[in-house]
Amino acid sequence: MLDELKRIEKAALAELSTVVDQAGLDGWRVTHLGRNSDLMQIFDNLGSVTREERPAIGRRANEIKKALESAFEGRVSALEQETLSRSLQGDRLDVTLPGRRLALGRLHPDTRTLRELYRIFGEMGFQVYRSREVEDDEHNFQLLNFPPGHPARDMQDTFFLETRTGNSSNPLLLRTHTSPGQIHAMREAASTNPDNPPALRMILPGMVYRVEQTDARHETQFDQVEGLAIGRGIRFSDLKGTLADFARRMFGPQTRTRFRASFFPFTEPSAEYDIGCFLCGGSGCEVCGSGWLEIGGCGMVHPIVLRNGGYDPEQYTGFAFGLGPQRIAMLRYHIEDIRLFWQNDIRFLGQFS
Ligand code: FA5
Repeated sequence: MLDELKRIEKAALAELSTVVDQAGLDGWRVTHLGRNSDLMQIFDNLGSVTREERPAIGRRANEIKKALESAFEGRVSALEQETLSRSLQGDRLDVTLPGRRLALGRLHPDTRTLRELYRIFGEMGFQVYRSREVEDDEHNFQLLNFPPGHPARDMQDTFFLETRTGNSSNPLLLRTHTSPGQIHAMREAASTNPDNPPALRMILPGMVYRVEQTDARHETQFDQVEGLAIGRGIRFSDLKGTLADFARRMFGPQTRTRFRASFFPFTEPSAEYDIGCFLCGGSGCEVCGSGWLEIGGCGMVHPIVLRNGGYDPEQYTGFAFGLGPQRIAMLRYHIEDIRLFWQNDIRFLGQFS
């Protein structure tokens, strides 16, 4: 029986060394250490062995059982180790490599400039008023004192809309400036108290459209920010103070402003609003030419426009201005061509963080 035990041990260990997975381990355990294994048969048959031989066989059988159990545990951990190192080899992952950079969205330079304008005028007490982009001739021109055939219309070559229900004396059009919003805003406010309309202080931002021969400073589609202040006793000095303060807040405390006499049918007197070029300090450079940069038009609201808006010009005065935020963005970010704004070229847009 001792020879039989030796054979059992040898065969079991030989087979264990060929086991390569969990199923093999489970099968091996049943075959060699299970209830019906050869080794367990020896324990079961100890009773038929002579009394003299029994202790030696029993001891040897126990030793083999312990040896097989410990060989089994050893094989289990060896296989676990093998599986782990195989997976480390196969799915190699270097956690020290830098991660992939996520492309974060950013604000368009025009949006950034508009938000800066809203902030500055907001601090000065101006509210934002949104007006429509599709207008009619009456609001875009006539109520602003541009009667049909007025030569100032030539300055704003217009996209007219073809509509079946159109009225030929008042065609629909894409607004050529944000000034028609003045009429909507005044009428809306005046309707709340026609005998004593409230004072107004607002900016009216939005897209405008003109048939333009495009170049580095002219687009067919561009933003304007209109400003409007109506009240009793508002003077031209209020307009100058507001725009001079705006320029200092927008471009820096040393910024100079200049007002040149001009003409708009809806303001009287009217002026062009220039700022001292901060690129050359006013000496004249490629961008400004003369040391000054024009960024908008302005003036005192014309009495006819006040009346058309529901305000009595005998009692109320006001000022208005119209700025070109893209021209402002071009100065701030040193953009040389206005046509870059709406081309959606990611190489251009990615430069503004
Ligand atoms: C007007 O549009 C007047 N409505 C402004 C105004 C408002 C005057 C209230 C008085 C009172 P103008 O056509 O000059 O004015 O345009 C105003 C600004 O819009 C210009 O100074 C410029 O900054 C911008 N602008 C005009 N045309 C273009 C264009 N084609 N492309 C880009 N910006 C333009």
